[in-house]
Amino acid sequence: MELHITCIPGDGIGPEIVKEARKVLERAADKYGHKMIFKDVLMGGASIDAHGVPLTKETVAEAKAADAVLMGSIGGDAATSPWYRLSPELRPEAGLLALRKSLKLFANLRPAVLYDELADACPLREEISRAGFDMIIVRELTGGLYFGERKTFQENGVRKAIDTLTYDENEIRRIAVKGFDIARKRRKKVTSVDKANVLDSSRLWRSVVEEVAKGYPDVTLEHMLVDNCAMQLVKNPAQFDVILTENMFGDILSDEASMVTGSIGMLASASLNDTKFGLYEPSHGSAPDIAGMDIANPIATVLSAAMMLRYSFDLDREAQAIEKAVKLTLSEGYRTADIMSEGMTKVGCSRMGDLLAEHIV
Ligand code: IPM
Ligand code: MG
Repeated sequence: MELHITCIPGDGIGPEIVKEARKVLERAADKYGHKMIFKDVLMGGASIDAHGVPLTKETVAEAKAADAVLMGSIGGDAATSPWYRLSPELRPEAGLLALRKSLKLFANLRPAVLYDELADACPLREEISRAGFDMIIVRELTGGLYFGERKTFQENGVRKAIDTLTYDENEIRRIAVKGFDIARKRRKKVTSVDKANVLDSSRLWRSVVEEVAKGYPDVTLEHMLVDNCAMQLVKNPAQFDVILTENMFGDILSDEASMVTGSIGMLASASLNDTKFGLYEPSHGSAPDIAGMDIANPIATVLSAAMMLRYSFDLDREAQAIEKAVKLTLSEGYRTADIMSEGMTKVGCSRMGDLLAEHIV
């Protein structure tokens, strides 16, 4: 199979981790007889430096022309980077949001799994972590507060800012369908997270999710308020299978869920539209403080590449080979600095990439 992949290495540790993911992908392609054609494009800070804007028409066109996009991370240190002296719509993050919107990537899947090999890194008490957990956050990605009308202005000499949280029923329905479809292939439970005790948008969310649930009698639906969900994620994470939620809640809860695994450097993500096309990126940020030092953990990007093979190319066997290589490499004791523990072998980003590639069998 010929796979056309547009790469957005991005900023900070982005270029290093994408390089390692490509290494692993190429190895998998060799092994299973595929041809991968990569093309690098700029976005975020790197695009600001080259073109003055975080996202160009060319980058959007290159992304659309590919079968899938593999991304590292974008953005810099807001306190020191000149990118954050630009107006908000010209900053690195605006590029990512505009790309999500123009590619119609409404479904963001963020699995949070406690790896046996890394159980020591889990910050929860042992009696909680013992049960393990394996959940996937299905986050709506092109609506809500992120894309509602916003403005900052003065009223009677007082500065004021407004953001608006809007959803229509179609936006809710299509992400709910994604969530239920995914639950069907897993443990058949959807926890829909909202703030229906306060927000109108959440009350609509809840009623549309209930309508969708009628088509999935084999899947259990429960509703949970977002504040309670934040609590339950540290109290009893094993209860979750699929967490279905809107954009902003999903942003916050997915960081929490990843932290609970003890290793944000391990968590992959996929952003999908209603075709096979997707953008795949680690759940973590660009870590500018460790950029270029060869100490970043490439595993989240490598696992995102595995998600790409599975969701955009239906190459389950190849995706599994990558996932297995991650487990094997960890079980042999290799660790990057962020997941290092006593008695393990510490390796850098590039060495970890080599090891993962070598472990593809
Ligand atoms: C994420 C990030 C982005 C978001 C930022 C970089 C705009 O935090 O992918 O979770 O808020 O969606
Ligand atoms: Mg986030």
